[in-house]
Amino acid sequence: MKYNGYAYIYTIGCQMNVYDSEKLALILNSYGFKKTNDMDKADIVVCNTCSIRHKAEEKAFSFLGRFAKIKKKNPHLITVMAGCVAQQEGEKAFERIPHLDIVLGTQAFSRFGQHIDAIKSGVQRVVDTKDCQMIYEAMPDASCFDENKISGFVTIMQGCDNYCTYCVVPYVRGRERSRKPESIMEEISLLATSGVKEITLLGQNVNSYGQKEAQMSFPELLARINKIDGIHRIRFATSHPKDLSINLIYAIRDLDKVCNHLHLPVQSGSNKILKKMNRGYTREEYIDRILTLKKECPNIALSTDIIVGFPSETDNDFNDTMNLLREIEFDSIFAFAYSDRSSAPAAKFSDQIDEKEKRERLNNLLQLQEQYTEKKNKELIGETFKVLVEGKSIKKRGGFEQTHKNMEQMTGRTESNKIVHFPSEHVNIGDIIKIKIKNAYRHSLWGHPVGV
Ligand code: 5AD
Ligand code: SF4
Repeated sequence: MKYNGYAYIYTIGCQMNVYDSEKLALILNSYGFKKTNDMDKADIVVCNTCSIRHKAEEKAFSFLGRFAKIKKKNPHLITVMAGCVAQQEGEKAFERIPHLDIVLGTQAFSRFGQHIDAIKSGVQRVVDTKDCQMIYEAMPDASCFDENKISGFVTIMQGCDNYCTYCVVPYVRGRERSRKPESIMEEISLLATSGVKEITLLGQNVNSYGQKEAQMSFPELLARINKIDGIHRIRFATSHPKDLSINLIYAIRDLDKVCNHLHLPVQSGSNKILKKMNRGYTREEYIDRILTLKKECPNIALSTDIIVGFPSETDNDFNDTMNLLREIEFDSIFAFAYSDRSSAPAAKFSDQIDEKEKRERLNNLLQLQEQYTEKKNKELIGETFKVLVEGKSIKKRGGFEQTHKNMEQMTGRTESNKIVHFPSEHVNIGDIIKIKIKNAYRHSLWGHPVGV
């Protein structure tokens, strides 16, 4: 059988999965498959899956399910389930997707190529959910495919040891392991050479980077990356409140390339629920850390994750979360209805909350936050910010149409991660320009360039 040499990759889930998919694309490339956006052209289809919530898992099964018919017409098509659902399901994945060829767990990526060869040579099904110490060191370096890429992800650690009771991550991504600083630095330097200006360092809990291995700490790593020529902005996610050290706060304050933004998932405002979640901090400790952060880094933008409807969450507990939003005034939040994951301990907790109640709480929370998101954005009107230009705006605003009919509308982000639209005459993707904010909406800002 002759293959056309095209691979289609469908990614579900977090930024880490986006990064992992880039690595898979590099492996596929070295095995003769170029990435395509046209699914019909592909000889190999990979779904990089997420199991954090039920909905994400279902999305993976429904995407891969559609290939039953297609494979009847084209039996040589190779279908792959990769990532968290693959790790969790193993052999069981074939019960729902009998036509699947490869089940590639989270730590099996470096062995992907040999599994493709096996399928090509007639092997029927391959399941690999075995462990590997550090997957990224064994894979091709930096994704320099996309020449126009100005922003890149770099995973600096894998797995998690925190065992929050709702979370599948420790079970599907294994124990926490940090990459070697030299290998991270090398990868970032390569990205910088290929034109990347902004990098986001990824890990389930970047604050504890290097602790287990007794190597460089996270603030020290930031200081080293801050010196890499060509990189202008450094972001990172996710931070755990219990490990947010004063040295990290100083690093955000003092290192010029580290963005003035922190994503610090709180999950709940109720001490009872935080304890049941095994988060390792109280509401008061969280607020205390935020106050220190605001004192050292004035104007820092804050975002968080929240779960509503965790087992046994009462109206009072939920109100504690609502009040926390009022007290802290986050710039933005990611909020989720608690989703039962059978491998996580909370699945066995009593007093599960009714789905309808969870939806109502989620809506109330999001509605409340919208006020603060808008308020925080409105406070920026009249100020000038450096914006990293990302591309043309997709959606045109009415006001813009009327006042700048003949100009292109571009989009970019501030250091605090706010989206800014602006009319432009001659800016290029990747430029950093100053924009004076003229108007603010719920999800974006609008302004005028005032110089490069
Ligand atoms: N149900 C709902 N949300 C969850 N998250 C993690 N596990 C679950 C779950 N079982 C959320 C947390 C985490 C974010 C990435 O996903 O808020 O910070
Ligand atoms: Fe999951 Fe908690 Fe680890 Fe985050 S810190 S990945 S929520 S176990």
